[in-house]
Amino acid sequence: MKKSASLRAPSGAKQTPGDCFGVRPRNDVVWILVAGFLISTLASGSTCVSITTRLLRALPFIGHRLAVDDVLDLSWETARRIRYEPCQSGESPIARAERILGVKLQGTKPIGKGGTRTVYLHPNDPSKLIKIVEIKPTKEGDPTEKAIKRQVWLNKFLTVRGFKVAKMEETPELWNLGIFIEENRPGTPLGKSTSAQGIENGKKLISELAKIDDPVYYAVFNRLGLTMLSALPVQSPYPKIGTLNPKTVQKGSGNHILGIDVGKNFENIHVEANDEVVLIDY
Ligand SMILES: Nc1ncnc2c1ncn2[C@@H]1O[C@H](COP(=O)(O)OP(=O)(O)OP(=O)(O)O)[C@@H](O)[C@H]1O
Ligand SMILES: [Mg+2]
Repeated sequence: MKKSASLRAPSGAKQTPGDCFGVRPRNDVVWILVAGFLISTLASGSTCVSITTRLLRALPFIGHRLAVDDVLDLSWETARRIRYEPCQSGESPIARAERILGVKLQGTKPIGKGGTRTVYLHPNDPSKLIKIVEIKPTKEGDPTEKAIKRQVWLNKFLTVRGFKVAKMEETPELWNLGIFIEENRPGTPLGKSTSAQGIENGKKLISELAKIDDPVYYAVFNRLGLTMLSALPVQSPYPKIGTLNPKTVQKGSGNHILGIDVGKNFENIHVEANDEVVLIDY
């Protein structure tokens, strides 16, 4: 697998999942100086209360912007080069994958299907999967390229952060066609697991994901304009992850805006035979 030179953790960053993001010292100093200057300048004026209040309200947002500057930026390098090539008319994404990979998929049962991808066991190697993206364009346009970028970006980011993630082969030419070759990690979706140890490990993973969820949401939204919305079972024994966004979330729907999409019923987290948990999608 080709290793991206830019994909390394920033110096001093720990490799454990969920650590708080480091902040680039350069940005840190600039923001502290700007905030210090504004606060000291405004503190004497009569309108200082409302302006200072606004500034303070903006601080979490600034914090998120700073956070995404760090490891997410390192992971962005590969993803940003992706240029999705839509299928020629008459050929489906699955037929194109068969032609490009030289395998037969249609007529065999996919091992899974999510909202955007159909997943087949690789006919030449059962330790691998072939995931084929098929997203219907909306009236705003075709979000496929953005969705592929997000997937590659987050795969690299989560890996660098030390999360256990199904490995994705480094195949930019296939990503451009909406095809991913990934490691097969069979297991039970966390929401359906009856293993006490598996559920315990799942809860730990979700609390680690919760720590990075907001920065990831802001990064994906700011850079790709994508918003992930999911109805998470927030009453469950699992810690809630995701940010409630009052502007876009229907009141009472239970929907949450997410950075990392753990899937309905936590199906993007597999509990493996040894009770370890792995992210198979995000
Ligand atoms: N690495 C894997 N190992 C084993 N099974 C997998 C793996 N990846 C995906 N699957 C199976 O395929 C299904 C769909 O895959 P995946 O979640 O990647 O698709 P998606 O369309 O991106 O999903 P979503 O609707 O969550 O966005 C999974 O729910 C799971 O059953
Ligand atoms: Mg999924």
